[in-house]
Amino acid sequence: MSKEDQATNYSSYLLLEKILNAQEPRSQDNPDGAEHDELLFIIIHQVFELWFKQLLHELDFVCKQLHTGDLGRTLHVLKRVRNIIKVMVSQVDVIETMTPQDFSAFRSRLDSASGLQSVQFREIEFALGYKRESVLSRYSPDSKEFASLKTRLKNPSLWDAFLNFVAGRGYSVPKEMLATVSQSEIVASDPIVKILEEIYHTDPKLTQLCESLIDLDEGIQEWRYRHVKMVQRTIGMKQGTGGSEGANYLMASLDKPIFPDLWQVRMSL
Ligand code: HEM
Repeated sequence: MSKEDQATNYSSYLLLEKILNAQEPRSQDNPDGAEHDELLFIIIHQVFELWFKQLLHELDFVCKQLHTGDLGRTLHVLKRVRNIIKVMVSQVDVIETMTPQDFSAFRSRLDSASGLQSVQFREIEFALGYKRESVLSRYSPDSKEFASLKTRLKNPSLWDAFLNFVAGRGYSVPKEMLATVSQSEIVASDPIVKILEEIYHTDPKLTQLCESLIDLDEGIQEWRYRHVKMVQRTIGMKQGTGGSEGANYLMASLDKPIFPDLWQVRMSL
């Protein structure tokens, strides 16, 4: 074996052999060859899943930094998270070049496959604090996916880490909110809104943290909006392959804040 064969190179470091062979358009068994747009459809979803992986990696890191009290590093990583979400939102432009006819030419090949089943997307929701136990029922109790979500459900979310950090800075967060890990979505509470009010009036550094969190929340809402518009222009009001009502189902989650206290405090500022 030559020296070059053994040394790590671009391809071996990035496992390109695996990645570039991980696209198998189902329409490739068509007598006339694969539908042109199926490759794009697969690649865009794979790229999103890679970004989801990176987001989870960064969100876990943010929680650790908040736990150690490092505000500077927390803000730095939250900026990266926000920029990744911006990239994700802008990528919708690419898939929107696929016309309804281009998609319907291979849509039946998806069977019941749907973004609805993306475990990493649910993990992101849970990691932020938008937890719903009902989501677990989509997965078999003995599956890896179920186990990952169960762990996320029980673990403190970014919002829990934020409340603990704020308490560590001397704000009187109710004890029960610090002692228990909520396993459901966040509901705005008066004591927290009051604390946020005080932060916005008197504490510029913590205000920056609050603004970073609301950036993130708004970013997820932007993604939901672009996704539903993409769905409407590609399949209209047809049912989803995942069995939901399609655009109508997705519209119900538009405008759904992850951190409602941060939106509510704006009413009194
Ligand atoms: C033409 C492209 C797309 C169409 C027509 C489409 C369609 C849909 C539909 C109809 C749903 C509702 C669930 C169901 O299937 O019944 C859904 C959910 C979802 N899709 Fe897409 N989608 C597209 C592209 C994408 C891309 C590129 C991603 C990136 C990963 C994605 C991620 C998701 C996620 C995470 C959900 C679950 C959302 C939730 O439950 O809040 N989709 N999609």
